[in-house]
Amino acid sequence: MTSTKRIIIIGATSGIGNEVARLYIKQGWRIGVAGRRLERLEELRAETPGQIEAIQLDVTCPDAPERLAELIRKVGGMDVFLLSSGVGSQNRALDPEIELATVQTNTVGFTRMVTAAYGYFKEHGGGQLAVISSIAGTKGLGAAPSYSATKRYQNTYIEALDQLAQMEKLPIVFTDIRPGFVKTDLLKNDKYPMLMSPEYVARKIVKAIGRKKRRAVIDWKYAILVFFWKLIPGFIWRRLPIHN
Ligand SMILES: NC(=O)c1ccc[n+]([C@@H]2O[C@H](COP(=O)([O-])OP(=O)(O)OC[C@H]3O[C@@H](n4cnc5c(N)ncnc54)[C@H](OP(=O)(O)O)[C@@H]3O)[C@@H](O)[C@H]2O)c1
Repeated sequence: MTSTKRIIIIGATSGIGNEVARLYIKQGWRIGVAGRRLERLEELRAETPGQIEAIQLDVTCPDAPERLAELIRKVGGMDVFLLSSGVGSQNRALDPEIELATVQTNTVGFTRMVTAAYGYFKEHGGGQLAVISSIAGTKGLGAAPSYSATKRYQNTYIEALDQLAQMEKLPIVFTDIRPGFVKTDLLKNDKYPMLMSPEYVARKIVKAIGRKKRRAVIDWKYAILVFFWKLIPGFIWRRLPIHN
């Protein structure tokens, strides 16, 4: 038995996942990081040898659960699983390639990884399963249909798994993290209001995971925004120009 806590982060090559990994490194956790760009993961590993294990993993590939299992073995177990992998684009032209690639990563890949993590915790006496979804799942966004719909799927899926774990009396804690706009590669330099830095958001995420929050909208300004968004009736929402 080890007292050092262990976290696996999928999607740690850049952006939010990368910043969260850095915070857990500072806190002395054992970390397993994954993503497609192995060189980025190796860079992270070189900074703190012995504390991090890395593996190349593509959530859209069927072998991803096996690779996750290998990463968990290398780390020596998993207390917290964090899924930060995701893609998103504005797509007003409805390019089907963009829409479908988003579905592949954010729903098919998401389901593949989350079910694998759930299975691990079921077998190993529980744990914490955290995902980074988005406030974009709150409403259908005309500028990014696939992105907003896949984020709603993630919210609902975690809600369902939480109930399933209760039904099966499994000690799994679920944390659905919903950031507003964050200045990362995902936004592709498009202009967005109320942009937050990935460092700031990562600190809030580590806090939410530590407090075992079921749901965390980041940050408070977005929590207020979402509260009011939800109250807007459909006939008004469809006329609102929500775009950059
Ligand atoms: N930026 C925002 O405004 C914002 C707001 C709310 C929620 N989010 C969510 O936060 C999460 C992280 O995004 P980010 O903003 O940090 O953007 P990012 O810098 O583009 O990070 C995305 C991460 O996902 C990984 N990824 C993408 N496709 C993958 C695949 N097929 N297999 C494995 N890993 C994959 C990327 O790694 P590789 O490319 O190396 O595979 C990268 O590490 C996403 O789920 C996103 O939807 C972002």
